[in-house]
Order: sequence, then C-alpha cells, then structure tokens
Amino acid sequence: MLLHLTDFSRLNSAKCNKPINILTLWSHVILHTKSSYNFLYQHQHNNAVLSSLCRLIVVGRDENKRKSIKNNHEFVSFIIPMLRRINIMNAYKGYLLEPYTCCHQITSNYVSAKYSTNVQNLPRLPVPKLETTLNKYLKTVRPHLNDQEYEITKSLVKDFISEGSTGQKLQSLLENRAEHHSNWLEQWWLNTAYLEYRDPVVIFSSPGLVFPFRQFNTRKEQLLYAAKTLLAAADYKALIDGDKIPVEMMGKNPLDMSQYKKIFGTCRIPWEKRDKLSYNNSKHVTVIHNNHIFHVDVWGEDDILLSEDQLVQSLEKVMELSSTPTEDGIGILTSENRDTWAKAYQILIKDKTNEDSLIDIEKSLAVLCLDAPVGLWKCADPNARRNLAGAQTIHGGGSKANGGNRWFDKTVQFIVGADGVTGLTYEHSPAEGQPIAVMTDYIVNYIDQGKGNKKPSAKPSEPKHLRFNVKPEVKEMIKASQTHLDRLVANLELNCFQYDKYGKNFIKSQKLSPDSYLQMAMQLAFYRLHNTPGAHYESAATRMYAGGRTETIRSCSIESIEFAKAMLNPQIAPKEKLTKLQNAINGHKDYTVQALQGFGVDRHLLGLKLIALENGIELPKLYTDPGYTRSAHMRISTSQVACKCDGFMCYGPLVPDGYATCYNPRDNDVNFATSAFVENPATSCDKYRQALEQSLQDMHDLLLKVTKSKL
Ligand code: COA
Repeated sequence: MLLHLTDFSRLNSAKCNKPINILTLWSHVILHTKSSYNFLYQHQHNNAVLSSLCRLIVVGRDENKRKSIKNNHEFVSFIIPMLRRINIMNAYKGYLLEPYTCCHQITSNYVSAKYSTNVQNLPRLPVPKLETTLNKYLKTVRPHLNDQEYEITKSLVKDFISEGSTGQKLQSLLENRAEHHSNWLEQWWLNTAYLEYRDPVVIFSSPGLVFPFRQFNTRKEQLLYAAKTLLAAADYKALIDGDKIPVEMMGKNPLDMSQYKKIFGTCRIPWEKRDKLSYNNSKHVTVIHNNHIFHVDVWGEDDILLSEDQLVQSLEKVMELSSTPTEDGIGILTSENRDTWAKAYQILIKDKTNEDSLIDIEKSLAVLCLDAPVGLWKCADPNARRNLAGAQTIHGGGSKANGGNRWFDKTVQFIVGADGVTGLTYEHSPAEGQPIAVMTDYIVNYIDQGKGNKKPSAKPSEPKHLRFNVKPEVKEMIKASQTHLDRLVANLELNCFQYDKYGKNFIKSQKLSPDSYLQMAMQLAFYRLHNTPGAHYESAATRMYAGGRTETIRSCSIESIEFAKAMLNPQIAPKEKLTKLQNAINGHKDYTVQALQGFGVDRHLLGLKLIALENGIELPKLYTDPGYTRSAHMRISTSQVACKCDGFMCYGPLVPDGYATCYNPRDNDVNFATSAFVENPATSCDKYRQALEQSLQDMHDLLLKVTKSKL
C-alpha cells in the first residue's frame, strides 16, 4: 500500500493497522522531520490525523502515553526517541520495506543526527505560472532550432498553455500536489534523478572531490593523516548533530541545512527498479584496504573518542590483516549497473555472514579507503597530478588500481592514498556538492592547523574483518564488474587544471558576476570548438525552500550565442563584442536569480511530466518536440562547487557527446575539472580545455582593451 504522509485524506481513511504501514509512516516522518512537521503544524485540521498516527504508533504499547500527547510539538518530541528504540528492538529485516511501499525507500528509521531543535521555517517551493515558464522555455530553445522548427515549437507551446489544454490540467494537478507536500519536487527528484537511475553511480552520478595534495613518505604518515581525517569528520559530525553548523545564507534568505544531516551514516542500497536509502547513526567507520573490508570503531566501548594514536593502531592492524589484495573483494560490485548489483546483493544477503557484513557497512558513518600508491609524485606536471587524483576520486583507476577498494554506495568515502592522493567520493542522492565542499574545508583546516585528539579511550576495540561467503555465481559477477569498471575508466577523459591568470577578483573589478562570466567562457569555448550552440546545464541551489535541491540554469541563450559568434568574428569591433559579453552575462544572471527562486524551466516541466505519468495522462507533444529534446540534451554539464582550500570537484559528462565542467572560482585562480567520453569522436577534453583557456584569455584581453581605450 502506498501512503504519502501528507496525503491526509487517504491517510485518514486508511485503516493503517498493519505494521508495514506504520513503519512506512514512521520512516517518512523521520526522514522529513522538519518539513513534514512544519507542514503538519501549519495545518490545524491535521490534528485528527496526528492523533490517529499517534494511536497507530503506540497501539498495544502505552495507551496512557497516547492520551497524554496533546499537540504537534509533543508528537514530534515523542516520536523521535520512540523511533530510536524501535531501531534497537527490531531486527534489520523488520523494516526493510518492499520497493514501492513508500515514496522514499528507507531501510532504517535512524537519522544520522539528533532531531534538530532549530526548526527552520522555510518557505515552500513554488509552482511557477504555466505561461511564465513556457515563455521562458521558448527563449531557451531558440538557439537550438531553425526558423521552421521554432514556429512548430511556438504552436505546441500555444496549445500547451491554452484554456482547457492538457498543460492547464497538468498545472492544476501539480498545484494540488504542491498544497499537500512541503516540497512538491523533493520525493520525485530523489527517485527520478537518483534512486531509479540504473546506470552505475560511478562516473554517471557520483562526483569525486580532490583535497590538496599531501606527500606521504611512510605508511605511518599515511595512517596518521587518515586518523586525523576520521577525527576531523567526527568533530564535524558533532557540530552537525548539535546544530552548530552556521546556517548558510543567500542574501537575506537562510538556506535549508537538512542535507548536512544526511552526510554521515547514509548508504544507498541497490534494489531492483529503485534503490533504497538507509540512514543510520553509529560509532564506526568502514575501512577498505586491498579490497578487504573492516569494521573500525572510532569511539571506544566507553563512548570516548579514540585518540589519533589509537586510530593509527587500528589502521595498522587493518593493514596487517590485509597485506595482499583479495580476488573476491565485493566492493567492486557497487560500481555496477544498479539492477545488476541489486541481483548480486539479493544473492549475497541470503547468507547470514554476508548479511551481517552488509549491514555493518550500511550502518557505518563513512568509508575510509586506504589506497595503493598511484605514482602521484612521479608526475612532474601539477595538472597531471590533478588528473590522476581526479580519476582516483571518481572511479579509483579501475580494477587493477583502487577501483575495488571502494564502497560506492556510501555517501562519503574518504580516500587516503599511500603516496598522497587525498579526497573523497560522494554518492549524490542525499546531498548536493556544496555541503560536502564546506565539510572538506573544515577537514582540511583541521588537519592543517595540527588539530587532533591525544586523549585516549580506556576501552578501544579491535578492528573486525568483515567476511563474505562468495558463491561461484557472485564470483562471476565480480569478474564481470571488473571488466565493466575498466571499460568505464578507459572511456573517461579528464582534464583538471588550475587557471591561474586571474580569478574572481579580476572579474568583480570589472563589475561582472564571476559565475556568469565563467559560464559564458564555457559557452564561447564550446562554440569555438563545435560551431553550434551547446545546451548547457548549471546547477542553482534552491535551498532557500524547505527540502530544496537544485534548479537548472540554462546557460545557452540567444545572447550567449550572439556573444560567441561576435568573439570569433575578427570583423566585429571590440566595443560591440564587449556589449555582447555584457548582454550575455546579464541574461545569465537574470536566469540565475530566477532559478535560485525556483522559477526555472526544467523542474517545472519535469513536474508536469511526472504528474501526467502518475495520472496516466498522455504526454503532450511538447515533450517529444526537438525544442524540448535538444535544449535538454545538456552537452555542457556544469556546477560551481566552491571550497576555500586548493581542492576541486570532478565528475563525468551528462550525455555521450558532452563535457562536464566543475569549477571552484577562488580570488586569484579557478580550479577547473573537465571531462568527456573517449569513445565519442565528437568531443575532446584536451581541446575543450584549450578552447576554455583561450576564451578566458580573450575575454580578459577584451575587457582590458576596451577599458583602456575609454581612459
Ligand atoms: N560586480 C561585482 N561583484 C559581483 C557582481 C558584479 N556585477 N556580481 C556578483 N558579484 C560578486 C557577488 O557579490 C559575490 O561576492 P562574494 O564573493 O563577496 O560573495 C561574488 O561576486 C560571486 O557572485 P556570483 O559569481 O555572481 O555568483 P555566486 O557565487 O552567488 O554563484 C550560483 C551563483 C548559481 C553558482 C550559486 O548561487 C549556487 O547556486 N551555488 C550552488 C550550486 C550547486 O548547487 N552546486 C552543487 C551541485 S552538486
């Protein structure tokens, strides 16, 4: 039975007396504690539902307690510890919900942190007006269509928004959904963008984040750094749990901080058709070395955080117990297509030893990968080192390198390589890159400032080698995943570099927005190479809304193409080029401001599409029109992930003939990570980088030339 907590009419009428339904509801409440609670609290008429929920939860347990729950505040404060107790009392399988029993797939009722007492009263994601979105849409598709095609698209849009049209019907269904969900997109986005996506998370979904390089000369140095990383992470988790992370602001608007609570203890679980997410609170991490997997406690049995010496000892022990790589390392299965991995998972979990080991990994706070050396310092060129490290954090370099020394389903995997590659891989479904980048700065600072923990626990425990009984069938699957991963690795071309001629300061000095400027440099680079407009995705955070994730900024515009054409035409005077650059930047900035407020094109059109599918309504022709398909075929997939340290995020392209560009603009330089697929003859990452550097140089020279001539 499918129940949405916020679908109150159904909830009220449903006789929810089966445990599975109760668990579904509990899961939903805990996952969306803040948003659901806010919603419930704002709607007094839900009191009846709340009390029936309470009755369900305490039925057969504590009738007096139920009677004493008078209001919603009490409801929430009652339910959280209750859920914690349930987690301890029930066997793991007790709440392994069947797929599709809940709009979120949750296998555990824990959140990684304490329930936040600072309820953020954030506004709800709006549903934009149909006509506004479609008018904006028309502008964004124009560069991708000839005149005739554009006329057809215009008439499809006209039909879509006309009185009594399917578009209007979908809009009203969507508005109705928005009334019943604190964020109408959140669950859909989690499912369609992540949990239902079947390609491997490696390259296609999970970014890598490279920390500043280190040079380890001995194993002790590597392990000390690893121990400090764990201590810094534990410190950061304590801040998250204590609601001590400063609330981020966008202008005067506070941003939703709930993604931080999902960084630690979260694990994706492969499941046919749609994966699940497991949220946990625990005291251990999973350490992987030579493809062997270990349980390592970070706190002693006395609940005292281990000292760095104790952690180093544990990690030494791990290394002793895993001195040779195992052929049967099952970590590599997490790099597979999700349905293939789900099949292997179902076979594995039938065995009790395997089940216990899998649960142990899923419950851990994070993974620590102690990687084999990759020859980092043999690369003379710093950018070659960047490429090497980027590859290690995205895919581990394949089965012969560190690709099997991973558990790609874990939200955070810290990577500490023997010769100084440090960074992390993160599974994207629970959080965006920005909270991960903020945590990165914290960890890097913690280590650079020489912090650590000298105070030992009186009761440290030994690491436990997690065992797996690997049947021949699974052995075959492991072999196949090695081949598949190696193919993926060979197909990814990376070019990570630091552009050090200038950074944000120069762009700001020209009274231009750095982000829009860099986006236009990418537009110019693409046009320079391909002589055709490149549909271009940039993420804008919609975290000013409860449960907000991202909206797409469509960076390819009529103005960006006019600018690119002008820049590449030597006949056009510098002054005119500058005007086109300013127009393109202003156009991009305008779109950005709207996207940040939830008024982009893509999420709204996605919402209309999903509500059609949910209601069995045939999709309007607009969705198969070249205007839609070409403008959504994002040949440039970009994201600004800003961290203060000299690190960068990197990931794979969105489409086979595309590029990815993740960038970290700093005051006087910009770290870029670009990628493309080797197998696609249309793209070349090296040429794209050259074109990008050339564009940045040309734009810089143009600005200086025109400014000087003005003086
Ligand atoms: N003149 C001078 N300075 C300007 C300017 C102008 N015309 N326009 C902007 N600036 C300044 C800003 O005030 C800001 O200053 P600060 O560094 O002191 O804060 C700085 O330049 C940067 O602003 P800008 O480059 O315009 O945009 P931004 O940094 O706000 O970034 C987004 C824009 C869309 C990238 C950002 O809002 C966002 O959403 N980031 C998250 C993206 C995301 O989710 N990524 C992860 C996906 S996994």
